[in-house]
Amino acid sequence: MCDYVVVGSGIIGLYTCLELLNRNVKASSITVIAEHLPGDESINYASPYAGGDFSCITDDDPATLYYDKYTYTNLKKIQLALGGPQFGLDRYTSTEYWDIKPSKEKIDSLASYLEEYKEIPSYELPSGVAFGITFLSWNFNCPFFLANVKAYLEKNGVSFRRQKLTHITQAYLTSSTKVVFNCTGLGSHKLGGVSDSNVYPTRGQVVVVKAPHIKENVMRWGEDYATYIIKRPYSSDQLILGGYMQRDNWTADTFKEETEDIIKRTTTLYPKILEKNPFGNKLEILRVVAGLRPSRHGGVRIEKELVGHDKYLIHNYGASGYGYQAGLGMASEGVRLAFLNDSKI
Ligand SMILES: Cc1cc2nc3c(=O)[nH]c(=O)nc-3n(C[C@H](O)[C@H](O)[C@H](O)COP(=O)(O)OP(=O)(O)OC[C@H]3O[C@@H](n4cnc5c(N)ncnc54)[C@H](O)[C@@H]3O)c2cc1C
Ligand SMILES: *[C@@H]1O[C@H](CO)[C@@H](O)[C@H](O)[C@H]1NC(C)=O
Ligand SMILES: *[C@@H]1O[C@H](CO)[C@@H](O)[C@H](O)[C@H]1NC(C)=O
Repeated sequence: MCDYVVVGSGIIGLYTCLELLNRNVKASSITVIAEHLPGDESINYASPYAGGDFSCITDDDPATLYYDKYTYTNLKKIQLALGGPQFGLDRYTSTEYWDIKPSKEKIDSLASYLEEYKEIPSYELPSGVAFGITFLSWNFNCPFFLANVKAYLEKNGVSFRRQKLTHITQAYLTSSTKVVFNCTGLGSHKLGGVSDSNVYPTRGQVVVVKAPHIKENVMRWGEDYATYIIKRPYSSDQLILGGYMQRDNWTADTFKEETEDIIKRTTTLYPKILEKNPFGNKLEILRVVAGLRPSRHGGVRIEKELVGHDKYLIHNYGASGYGYQAGLGMASEGVRLAFLNDSKI
């Protein structure tokens, strides 16, 4: 039996499984099909490369504000279900600065639910910053968290199968497959059936350093740059330094100039990285990687399509730079659509 098929095993596909279980769908009726599974690394698999915290960079349209809020307020349940923070989801304080003040809608929404939310008085803001806040964030150890969610789902009876689909019809595994969720990220650019030319990558390079002395996140959003420092929980003290937001750039290579620029920007924004560095004034660089955020002109696509007389396809892709922090809300919307006005499912 396989009534629900989730295509894609990134954070959006896994959140979709969790939301199906949340609606009391039987785990054994769910199958995940993906070319890349937790534990893999590929430039076509964004989720392992995320810095992985809840930040306030997302748009200020009502849907996005809702997805962020839903995710932020429901992550506690997931942390508990997995067995605690040691499964790769923990909490640290974040400081966020904007060179251009966000809209009132955005600020009012954040203020309404972020724990320990505080606006930073203007006299304490760095030069050039228009607005700043501190709050208690959620931090993911992305590759480790993905693997732990997969293990949790499997333990409950969800099946995983590695397969690259060349056409969406292949996802309807048996005649009992009623709903397919399309959580293919950038894969939706190329997959047959429906090809969405609005999908494009936003490249980001990050530098991972060892920094046991840093226990918080700091970020600054400029008009044409993004500088961030994200602590990775349960990772033997990894700190993610970023970053870049290069639209329509498919390059998986990393560049020394970008590494140097990232280190310069992050240590200027947050000098403690170097000042209290146990390795002297040279950072202990563990890794430099590039990832492609699955972006979409027009924003995220969460839509229900009737295919055949009683089969549905739910699209859920285009999470761009916020799959972890907004994705649970997106998944809950996809699952809501699946059940909407249909007594057969
Ligand atoms: C440098 C960087 C930093 C980031 N920082 C953050 C952050 O701090 N917070 C945050 O919330 N987000 C962050 N993100 C964004 C986040 O990583 C993405 O939003 C998220 O990973 C998207 O997940 P996804 O499941 O849509 O796609 P993916 O993780 O790319 O998963 C796609 C899945 O679909 C499968 N697939 C695709 N095509 C096919 C096919 N034809 N057949 C079978 N399977 C297929 C793939 O194999 C894979 O399993 C960051 C991203 C990057 C690159
Ligand atoms: C997902 O949707 C995109 C865009 O419509 C399309 O290109 C892709 O073929 C779809 N994939 C699946 C598995 O539904
Ligand atoms: C992509 O980004 C890299 C690194 O910044 C750069 O060298 C390259 O020219 C870019 N490519 C395109 C097509 O913009």
